[in-house]
Amino acid sequence: MAEVIVVGSRKAAGALVAEAIERLVGTRPDAVLGLATGDTPLPVYRALAERVRAGLDLSAVRGFALDEYVGIPVTHPESYHSVIARDVVGPLKLNPAAVHVPDGRTLGIETAGERYEVAITSSGGIDLQILGIGTDGHIGFNEPGSSFASLTRVKTLTRQTREDNARFFASIDDVPVHSITQGLGTILRAKRLVLLAFGAAKAHAVAAAVEGPLSASVPASAIQLHPRATVVVDEEAASMLTELEYYRDAFAQKPIWDPVIL
Ligand code: GLP
Repeated sequence: MAEVIVVGSRKAAGALVAEAIERLVGTRPDAVLGLATGDTPLPVYRALAERVRAGLDLSAVRGFALDEYVGIPVTHPESYHSVIARDVVGPLKLNPAAVHVPDGRTLGIETAGERYEVAITSSGGIDLQILGIGTDGHIGFNEPGSSFASLTRVKTLTRQTREDNARFFASIDDVPVHSITQGLGTILRAKRLVLLAFGAAKAHAVAAAVEGPLSASVPASAIQLHPRATVVVDEEAASMLTELEYYRDAFAQKPIWDPVIL
């Protein structure tokens, strides 16, 4: 099962994951990070940016974004190309040529998934995949019903996801209907998974992902199949977990030889 770590704040979550990434990059300067978008991973990126300002060098790090909208120009401020450039590549001083985002342009979309899979495989694979979670239990844009074996491909967004993401656009009608996303099978190939979730709106999805039955109806439950998955949540997002006391206890008793997010 995933290791669940309950933190006091988003900032604490960011520090914890940034620490693990710094450790990874210390042993492997050209580590490959899987990059999520949305509000949730921002504390991680902010904590890393702080470390970069203090001298951490991430210039050899490579990255693969989880997903992209289909059919909006890459120059649109809410395309994930733009978001990754603004929130990640710039502040972390990554090499833009080493950070990839799925190609959501409609021209050539039939081959975009396969091209992305080849790029990930050729890089040697993702060392650490950062994940958020949608209120409907999606990861990346793998909506309920996604196959656990799925690879990067086009998915139609649910109404719920489009409503959740409408805050980034003028209205829900402007939220694209399609996305291109790493599949659950792609995500499961990463060497480590770190799923973050904050706030009561995520509590149900977190409980279903961590403790519910494995089900394509809760795509994030796929993390139960991964041998090195860590879930970092605040108290609100953790509030519906049945085994909360056990997770707290396990973390408090964590052996010294077992680093956080190994
Ligand atoms: C989008 C992204 C997901 C993200 C989810 C949650 O749908 N494709 O990768 O995890 O939103 O977003 P937020 O972190 O803003 O709650």
